[in-house]
Amino acid sequence: MKNVILGVTGSIAAYKAAIVAHTLYKNYYNVNVIMTKNACELITPLTFERLTNNKCIVETFDKGIQYDVKHISLAKQADAVLIAPATANIIGKLANGIADDMLSTTVMACKCKVFIAPAMNTAMYENPIVQANIEKLKSFGCVFIEPDTGLLACGDVGKGKLPDPEYICEYIYRELEREKTLSGKKVLVTAGATCEAIDPVRYITNYSSGKMGFAVAYEAMLRGAKVTVVAGHTEAKEPPFCNVIKVKSAKEMFNAVKSEFESCDIVVKAAAVADYTPVSTADNKLKKSDDDMSIPLKRTDDILGWLGKNKKDKILCGFSMETENMLENSQKKLEKKNLDMICANNLKVSGAGFKSDTNVITLITKSGVTELPIMSKSDCAKAILDKLSEL
Ligand code: CTP
Repeated sequence: MKNVILGVTGSIAAYKAAIVAHTLYKNYYNVNVIMTKNACELITPLTFERLTNNKCIVETFDKGIQYDVKHISLAKQADAVLIAPATANIIGKLANGIADDMLSTTVMACKCKVFIAPAMNTAMYENPIVQANIEKLKSFGCVFIEPDTGLLACGDVGKGKLPDPEYICEYIYRELEREKTLSGKKVLVTAGATCEAIDPVRYITNYSSGKMGFAVAYEAMLRGAKVTVVAGHTEAKEPPFCNVIKVKSAKEMFNAVKSEFESCDIVVKAAAVADYTPVSTADNKLKKSDDDMSIPLKRTDDILGWLGKNKKDKILCGFSMETENMLENSQKKLEKKNLDMICANNLKVSGAGFKSDTNVITLITKSGVTELPIMSKSDCAKAILDKLSEL
């Protein structure tokens, strides 16, 4: 179990720290909350104790805990420190080496990564002294989680809001969840469905939700890769810390992939790309008549086929969705498109395919076939990247 120290200071956003604490706790982190006195005016230590199952620490000389050693033992066991919300005051103290309460003392004794999420009035945040303190802490390796812009508690509109607690937790997951086996690698993932316009109102698409591609991107990011996602239409939450390029048509996806391909090491092509597109797109809405109608279609570029031809030493992984003869058809695609691996699934198998949070995949490489049971798409992503790492 990883240990996180959560520092909570006296910003009105302190209530959101309760969600941060509980989210980390639910994800099996041992969370030790340290509050400043001012934070206790806004939210009670008891809230954090209930949400983390640990004693919440407030002041250096409280009775009941041997704090003089506690701040050192907490600091020693910490895998990460997260201060959320962080006031101008705590930022100022840390930047200038002041350790006069439990939080500043403990952080001073920590050797692990420190994440700081400022939350304050815009004018305070933009104050050159605060900004200089932030820059100084960054130069010492602290990671700042940029505040959001919006309506602040004081009534002003501007920068200074504490970001969504789930997003704040992502910084901790990125730091602690995986070994950084893909550090220094660039991974390109495509995800979702392409949309081929018929007229300004209608388009041809498919049921892909983007969940599988996003899961692969997220997993690669956790393993330390620099990740770019070229995404068509998706219904899933975009993976954090990834460069997401939104596209619509197969043509746009092809152009985006071509411009990213040269610099990347691994490509995972999870997108469901249209094989056909209308020969022309009407400028105006097509009006109905009493007759039937048909829409002439032409072939799109096979993006993966092009990647296979220009592959050099890159690792290339495709996807293959079938409803019959899955193995045979997918093996043909592996050969034809010059891939290192293809992840095959059969849409007719329960728990596999579009939209659901699970998939049933078979990993096919030149050297063998690995059939996997029904798994969450995030576990499928792990299996895919494990296999690609072997290659
Ligand atoms: N793909 C692509 N460009 C296309 C079509 C598909 O890059 N124009 C990629 C998909 O992202 C996926 C793989 O190719 O990784 C799927 O292979 P494909 O032969 O296109 O599969 P299907 O279209 O399902 O094959 P078929 O129509 O022959 O059943």
